[in-house]
Amino acid sequence: MAHSSSYVPTTRLGKWFDERLPVMRLAYDSFVAFPCPRNLNYLWTFGGILSVCLVIQIISGITLAMHYQPSAEEAFNSVENIRRNVNFGWLIRNIHAVGASMFFIAVYIHIFRGLYYGSYKAPREILWILGVFIFLAMMAASFMGYALVWGQMSFWGVTVITNLFSALNEIIPGLGTMVTQWLWGGYSVSGTTLNRFFALHYLVPFVILGLVVLHIWALHVVGQNNPTGLEIKQPSDAVPMTPYAVMKDAVGLFAFLILFAWFVFYVPDYLGDADNYNEANPLVTPPHIVPEWYFLPFYAILRAIPSKLGGVIAMFGSIIVLVFIPWLDTSRIRSTKYRPLYRWFFLLFTISALALGYLGAKPAEGVYVFWARVFTFYYFAHFLLVMPILGIIETPSAMPRSITEAVLGKDDGSEKKH
Ligand code: HEM
Repeated sequence: MAHSSSYVPTTRLGKWFDERLPVMRLAYDSFVAFPCPRNLNYLWTFGGILSVCLVIQIISGITLAMHYQPSAEEAFNSVENIRRNVNFGWLIRNIHAVGASMFFIAVYIHIFRGLYYGSYKAPREILWILGVFIFLAMMAASFMGYALVWGQMSFWGVTVITNLFSALNEIIPGLGTMVTQWLWGGYSVSGTTLNRFFALHYLVPFVILGLVVLHIWALHVVGQNNPTGLEIKQPSDAVPMTPYAVMKDAVGLFAFLILFAWFVFYVPDYLGDADNYNEANPLVTPPHIVPEWYFLPFYAILRAIPSKLGGVIAMFGSIIVLVFIPWLDTSRIRSTKYRPLYRWFFLLFTISALALGYLGAKPAEGVYVFWARVFTFYYFAHFLLVMPILGIIETPSAMPRSITEAVLGKDDGSEKKH
């Protein structure tokens, strides 16, 4: 979709600048005049919310880095020092720690929105795949950031997850050990590991920022999807992004920030693990090593498979499979709203993902393992069996002919004049 620019510089300086570097034109065309479907609901405000989350994490993170000490001896106490002695350090630290969770709440809503309305389907495949890469980078960033606190859960979490690479020994003997020791920078998780995690934790958010720029660029090439899954076909189907979508984004953002502030000011440790307030101790293993809540479904998948290598493959596979869903989903239409059968399977998938999250926090034994296997099976079956088969056999329910009709109940073409 190539748009002709409607930007007209209003001042002489603006015109002079526009002829040399049309950055204002780019901003105007992308965020002011950009046509948005008129029927977007609040789930479409999460892209903007995520952009704000990224900025909040970068600013609060850089401020924390000014006081943090990335060494095994000082890391834990430097975080305590930030919380107790640095001016507003408690606030900056709470914002950054709670912010990581809020970022994941927002990204899961954003992903499920995309899955429900078929936003990954052509022509939005690249947009979606960039999203999956962003998600992977977010996971890497939060995993390494959690290590920096150098509490018990930081240390043992890193030990468990980096040890997964030793499963490569099952393919080539010695390879896994080599890779693991290379990651650690020694023979165990140590201050050396902490220091390199700090370097990478500072770097990855800027990689995410670059990916987000590409993500939004791709979005502006193909245009936004919407609850009907229909494309914009006529001027009456769309409204300019400013003020309409921007105001709606602002309302969504405001509500999100209230929740964010509630966590920061009233229950900053609610989403974290109490054991991480004990300093890392390589000689004491915590009874339950559990990752942060946003990793739990993947952790459940890892432990559901009886072999170590199999578990690692399943865990990474559960994210990589998302790359292929634009082609695995054979449905002619995008939105689940008009798919009477698929919507039940979508509900089942949502329940499976939540159940895996619950099971990830439970010990890997008895009935918990059984159910983790059942839901892991459905997780993969949903993408590899349900999506390809259902798309072919399902008959969609009655749909509006256009976005305008979905909003006004009729589309007699009279709106086209506006
Ligand atoms: C830092 C993380 C992310 C940021 C800042 C971000 C930003 C955005 C923005 C601003 C939009 C347009 C507004 C909207 O539709 O909500 C958008 C749309 C979209 N994003 Fe993301 N995104 C992120 C992560 C992801 C992830 C992880 C995925 C999928 C795995 C994804 C998939 C999509 C898709 C498919 C759309 C188009 C939606 C539609 O038009 O229906 N995004 N994103």
